[in-house]
Amino acid sequence: MALPAPAPDRTAVVTGASSGIGAEIARELVRRGHGVTLVARRGDKLAELAAEVRGSGVRAEVLTADLSDRGARAGLYEQVTALGLVPDILVNNAGLSTLGPVASSDPDAEMNMVEVDVMAVTDLCSRFVGPMVERGRGGILNVASTAAFQPLPGQAGYGACKAFVLSYTRSLGGELRGTGVTATALCPGPVDTGFGDTAGFAKEDAALPAFMWESAEAVAKCGVAGLDKGRPVAIPGPANRVAAMFAHLTPKALLVPILASRHPGLRDD
Ligand SMILES: NC(=O)c1ccc[n+]([C@@H]2O[C@H](COP(=O)([O-])OP(=O)(O)OC[C@H]3O[C@@H](n4cnc5c(N)ncnc54)[C@H](OP(=O)(O)O)[C@@H]3O)[C@@H](O)[C@H]2O)c1
Repeated sequence: MALPAPAPDRTAVVTGASSGIGAEIARELVRRGHGVTLVARRGDKLAELAAEVRGSGVRAEVLTADLSDRGARAGLYEQVTALGLVPDILVNNAGLSTLGPVASSDPDAEMNMVEVDVMAVTDLCSRFVGPMVERGRGGILNVASTAAFQPLPGQAGYGACKAFVLSYTRSLGGELRGTGVTATALCPGPVDTGFGDTAGFAKEDAALPAFMWESAEAVAKCGVAGLDKGRPVAIPGPANRVAAMFAHLTPKALLVPILASRHPGLRDD
């Protein structure tokens, strides 16, 4: 089923649109004629992107919000409709990872990650999907990761967050059959964005071969195309599709020790 048609009073809400994959998803939606509502904490970055979008003749709004804050999340749907806009598309892209063993983790940082990666996705879907079903049209794109297909020692919380997003989105898609609303989980492999800096590792530390890396633009195109086709899951790049399948099927008793021995967040050096 195709995405809802763009219209001047309709918008695609994109969280985490201030950088990386979220900014590129917003640009890809704009290329297809969709107005966008850009959400993140860094209002200056959102304003820059909104100006670029408006320059192409498409409507763009900026809503600054800290998605780890329940109160901020609770007001988001009404903030969009108060602008006179109907949110036909919701992209839950905002996310981050911590790095390192659970034994030496910072509880506040771990809880912040769960709030943004899991709670915000659940919260916003819960608020936006019902009205979409009532209208008989809509699209949800939740950004998970290839980490969703396997445990991830060294980023244990992050891997579990993304496994949640994948499972939740698949279930949501099953519930939505026949409603005119679809849900797609976008599962990128490694992408060179601000993500590594936030987590605390450099690209060269990631121990992943060059052919697995995809650009944020390619990831965005894959996600929006998957959403447009009503696919339950979109994995950018053939190498990442094979790796995700391999990780999913390999007995975890074999896989986990290998992953733990290779992860940069668990190295002693
Ligand atoms: N890069 C990768 O290798 C990779 C691979 C697989 C999946 N992903 C997923 O892709 C998504 C986007 O990541 P990215 O690679 O584009 O990284 P990024 O460039 O660091 O972007 C992360 C976005 O999330 C927003 N964000 C973080 N915390 C927030 C909060 N408390 N409230 C509101 N917004 C918040 C950031 O905006 P502000 O800082 O302005 O708030 C930023 O726009 C994430 O869900 C990530 O898990 C990334």
